[in-house]
Amino acid sequence: MSDLKARIQGIRDAFNQALGQVEGLKALEELRNQYLGRKRGIVKDLLNDLRSAPKELRPELGQVVNRLKQAVESGLAERLEELKSGESDGSSERGIDITLPGIAPELGSLHPLNVVNRDLIRIFERMGYEVAGASEIETDFYNFEALGLTKDHPARDMQDTFYITDEVVLRTHTSNVQIHMMQNRKPPFKAIMPGRVYRKDADITHSPMFNQVEGLVVGENITFTDLKGTLEHFLKQLFGSDTKMRLRPSYFPFTEPSAEVDVTCIICGGKGCRVCKNSGWLEILGAGMVDPVVFENVGYDPETVSGFAFGLGVERVAMLKHSISDIRMFFDNDLRFLSQFN
Ligand code: PHE
Repeated sequence: MSDLKARIQGIRDAFNQALGQVEGLKALEELRNQYLGRKRGIVKDLLNDLRSAPKELRPELGQVVNRLKQAVESGLAERLEELKSGESDGSSERGIDITLPGIAPELGSLHPLNVVNRDLIRIFERMGYEVAGASEIETDFYNFEALGLTKDHPARDMQDTFYITDEVVLRTHTSNVQIHMMQNRKPPFKAIMPGRVYRKDADITHSPMFNQVEGLVVGENITFTDLKGTLEHFLKQLFGSDTKMRLRPSYFPFTEPSAEVDVTCIICGGKGCRVCKNSGWLEILGAGMVDPVVFENVGYDPETVSGFAFGLGVERVAMLKHSISDIRMFFDNDLRFLSQFN
């Protein structure tokens, strides 16, 4: 019985294919004869063969053959209409079965760096920060000089640089945005500067292009306590409310005093592991009070204006959050990697 059913399915398929290839009324008529011809049609033959099937199966098989007959009839009628009106969506010509379920298009997803970037921006927007930007190609003045990194300052070595000319560089941090903002605005304001930055640096944790988010708050009576409270709130939002923070004295030419900011290791929770090199802490930010010399360079009065600034790397945050050990994974565009962040 299943033999006969398979045969019927084969006939159905063959008919559909032939129907799709029919290009004229004459060919359609020939097809009709071939399948529904009274004396020697394929359907007729099937009905004849039914007589040799076991009696108890006949009613069911009869139904199957009848359904085939109906399908052939309606297929022929439909094709006739198409041929008459000269219209066709093309699907039958190509032998496509439009009743098959479709192939769902694969959904894309945000790049893991964009996810982290958006998270960072959202946290600061909730604290009332505006988002600012500027060019990635910058003059020496905005990238270095105005920030206290005078020519030949040894601290320039901290940021290996792509020089376009002696005076034009690919920005090494988004601090250039801070200078543009302060030149164009009067305090008070608070802003974050997300963006791409460039350094002549490449290994499994450094990429010649990477993303930063820097922040700047300027006004009157802004103190180190404000900086500490802001960063603590930010890091708890980012890594969870159990996160602890510590400040270590550090040096940047554009902040004084300066600090390196650590959080409790998000992998081991502070117990000590390979990622935090058994210290329990991870370095995550650079920060400090804006150096008076920077205020002077942009025409602010350092006696009345004070402020703080901070900066962090987006890749580093994403690598820590997802335990990614090689920064190059972000830029290889390997779907096996990218689709894990759906
Ligand atoms: N601009 C610093 C860097 O890219 C980060 C930083 C910003 C540090 C603001 C302190 C204050 O290395």
